[in-house]
Amino acid sequence: MAPKVAIIYYSMYGHIKQLAEAEKKGVEQAGGTAKLFQIPETLPEEVLSKMHAPPKPTDVEVLHDPSVLEEYDAFLFGIPTRYGNFPAQWKTFWDKTGKQWSTGGFWGKYAGLFVATGTQGGGQESTAIAAMSTLAHHGFVYVPLGYKYTFDLLSDLSEIRGGSAWGAGTFSAGDGSRQPSAKELDLAQRQGKTFYETVSKVNFA
Ligand SMILES: Cc1cc2nc3c(=O)[nH]c(=O)nc-3n(C[C@H](O)[C@H](O)[C@H](O)COP(=O)(O)O)c2cc1C
Repeated sequence: MAPKVAIIYYSMYGHIKQLAEAEKKGVEQAGGTAKLFQIPETLPEEVLSKMHAPPKPTDVEVLHDPSVLEEYDAFLFGIPTRYGNFPAQWKTFWDKTGKQWSTGGFWGKYAGLFVATGTQGGGQESTAIAAMSTLAHHGFVYVPLGYKYTFDLLSDLSEIRGGSAWGAGTFSAGDGSRQPSAKELDLAQRQGKTFYETVSKVNFA
């Protein structure tokens, strides 16, 4: 059976959402389909407006109940950095997954990830590494992006570019004004494609 893929993200200013859409395109390019979900917001409106956060999209399902994910085989997680780590919105979501943790609801499922930071050196790799602990405790099988299909992009130093062997990435700048570049979107699309090709080798009976 073809793997059932979900792309789950949190995005305050839309950068991670753009990468999520490029990841989805990549999955589709490889002949698959992927369902987009967004992680619920946890901050009050008053705080969000002080942070100049735009309204969340209404056309992407908000994932309140983590058990919905038990029906899926493979996941791409979109994580915008907070202090080189998950944002609290993502942490709150994971803190609702005690049932899956204790019963193995996600055990043996596949996961890749992509990130956004404001700055270079702001935690693209540390965010990915921090996520490993959660993946390990749930028993997810981590699928890295690696260099095989990305060496040209990852070794191209001609312009600023987010992403690494751990997963696609973008830089938003301190004020959120920088948008994902063509190369960052290309990297995200390649990740979606190669992730799907990788998980398609597994027999999901
Ligand atoms: C509270 C807070 C902490 C942040 N911490 C970092 C950080 O440690 N390093 C960094 O480069 N950017 C940091 N940022 C910037 C975010 O990572 C950036 O806004 C986000 O990746 C943009 O993605 P989005 O548009 O999908 O929300 C922080 C932003 C906020 C609001």
